[in-house]
Amino acid sequence: MSTADQHNSTIRLEQAADRGMALLESAAAKVESWMEAWPQWDQLPAALAQAGRYGVLGDGKRLRPTLVLTACEACGGDPDTAMPAAAALEMVHCFSLVHDDLPALDDDALRRGRPTLHVHAGEAMAILAGDLLLTQAFQMLATASWPDSTRAQLVRMLADDTVQMVAGQVYDTLGGCPQELSPVDQLRLVHGCKTGALIRGAVLMGAVVADADPDHKAALQDWGEAIGLMFQIVDDLLDVEQSEAHIGKAVGKDAAKGRPNWPQVLGIEASRREVDRLLQVSAHAIEPLGRAGEGLSNLACTLAVRTR
Ligand code: IPE
Ligand code: IPE
Ligand code: MG
Ligand code: MG
Ligand code: MG
Repeated sequence: MSTADQHNSTIRLEQAADRGMALLESAAAKVESWMEAWPQWDQLPAALAQAGRYGVLGDGKRLRPTLVLTACEACGGDPDTAMPAAAALEMVHCFSLVHDDLPALDDDALRRGRPTLHVHAGEAMAILAGDLLLTQAFQMLATASWPDSTRAQLVRMLADDTVQMVAGQVYDTLGGCPQELSPVDQLRLVHGCKTGALIRGAVLMGAVVADADPDHKAALQDWGEAIGLMFQIVDDLLDVEQSEAHIGKAVGKDAAKGRPNWPQVLGIEASRREVDRLLQVSAHAIEPLGRAGEGLSNLACTLAVRTR
């Protein structure tokens, strides 16, 4: 590629990333107000409701719910009808973060730029608030007004993806990954589970709400697979390259805990090339959706260049 071509392609990437960021911000606002207005908060003991709200209503990117809504729209659905699925997935994600930060797991004191829930409210409450968020996710799906078959499918999908996420967390924190796999394939497996499952699940849940045709679901499955992996490689790069103040969580944690991550296994430059490669894979995967896939393509660019 000539220098001029390289320059133009960088500008196109940055412009697409800006459009993706705008999408993320507008979806985040909608999902946050939906979760804020969730009527079940008022039915809980005050301290539990407070801890649960602390766990979900911080300064998160809201990537997964944005993917649910954007995928639903890309498949011809009305994104508003996907709101309970978007919020449910974010609840599971927030539960995973609350438990991931616990002393028995990553033992982190900072999340989303403020004290982690166990630091803020005590360990027992953080465990119980995590239990609450996970369970509320399924309440949200169970009480949404979709046809019964859609609801059943979504419950099954979220349950399967959550089980995979938990399995990935076990591999990541306790080990047990099949040793016959190469170090890179072990990382692919661990990260495909711990991070990939909920990201891939997000786009597929959006597709199910939209009652998408099988070709589009298959395209989204491949897109989600690539983006889930890319997301975790970028997270690992941020862990190595960014400051705590910038990303709002502790840095250098993987090395401190002796956990293999992408920069450690592949090196920083090769990890960056893998991010670029996965961005190309995702662009190719989404082609069957045509112009309707533009929102997702823009989000992919945002995720490739993000610094927090
Ligand atoms: C952090 O996820 C945990 C990983 C799976 C790497 P996010 O980076 O999406 O966290 P928030 O929701 O924006 O805080
Ligand atoms: C956690 O991965 C992923 C889940 C919570 C499932 P990390 O441990 O790398 O996430 P951060 O870096 O603490 O956000
Ligand atoms: Mg962890
Ligand atoms: Mg962690
Ligand atoms: Mg991390």
